[in-house]
Amino acid sequence: MVRKGVIGLLIVSVISGFVLAQQTGSRRGAADRAAQGRMGGGMMDDWLDQLDKAYQANNREEMGKLIEQFKQMRQQRGGMGPGGIGPGMGPGMGQGMQPPQGGRGLGGASPENAPVPQDDIEKKILAVLDDMRQNQSRGMMNCSVEDGRFFRILVESMNAKTVVEIGTSNGYSGIWWCLGLRKTGGRLITHDIDKNRFDLATANFKRAGVSELVQQVFGDAHETVAKIEGPIDILFLDADKEGYMDYLEKLLPKVRPGGLILAHNTTNAGRSMQNYLTAITTNKDLETIFVHKDQQGVSVTLKKR
Ligand SMILES: C[S@@+](CC[C@H](N)C(=O)[O-])C[C@H]1O[C@@H](n2cnc3c(N)ncnc32)[C@H](O)[C@@H]1O
Repeated sequence: MVRKGVIGLLIVSVISGFVLAQQTGSRRGAADRAAQGRMGGGMMDDWLDQLDKAYQANNREEMGKLIEQFKQMRQQRGGMGPGGIGPGMGPGMGQGMQPPQGGRGLGGASPENAPVPQDDIEKKILAVLDDMRQNQSRGMMNCSVEDGRFFRILVESMNAKTVVEIGTSNGYSGIWWCLGLRKTGGRLITHDIDKNRFDLATANFKRAGVSELVQQVFGDAHETVAKIEGPIDILFLDADKEGYMDYLEKLLPKVRPGGLILAHNTTNAGRSMQNYLTAITTNKDLETIFVHKDQQGVSVTLKKR
């Protein structure tokens, strides 16, 4: 009884999430609304039917898969979605490795287009990211594709040489950082406390061909960061949310003037990092904006010169 109730609640929350996403979408621009439209209708009905069947059969594994698909779809609503839910979903990252097929009324310039690899190395890296997203994402708490593309843009545009990441997981965001770092001649120093994820990241960095750009640090980052030598161009916080303030206090002095501090999950876990959010929005030496607010959210803080 109790278990069925929990499953029911889960379904209700997922469906409410969809309704909310639709409402949020209605406040967005035309291109986004078009994307929303493509998620609705028959395809959504199919998805709900599948979820309903899984629910009736008490097939938790199938339900988990469907919910995961939904989350990815919502995360990638810009059009880089999983493409696995049904026809009309827009290109998935798998298809996204191919050149753009044309945008939604923007003459092929639609933001829905997946990254277009510039060379074979980039193609291989994007393929690994695609594979990780499709086959390895469960339990890895990875950033979104949109976050990853943003990270790469920041690295290249800032000519960043040192990116410090707290929270490696399986290396997904790390590989996005490396897409930029391989062009700037920089490196990623990434920390994780979980040995399984640490080892998985090692393997993923290797198959993406970026191991030489990465220094992995194993252990509690609250302690291991003491060894980091500045200057840091970009600091990315994506580990224990309650610890963000401690990381900021320890690492802000090592971030170069003009450098950035990014923190993940400001939308979905903002409350657990309230002291951090207050600190980055009330300090005269820092300037902060929040991006990707309809996803997990990322704060972007400039350390003023
Ligand atoms: C949200 S995941 C990171 C996701 C990754 N940045 C990505 O987007 O692919 C958070 C990671 O932080 C790690 N973590 C949590 N507390 C930590 C700590 N005190 N020191 C180091 N790593 C920690 C967890 O083991 C987990 O792998």
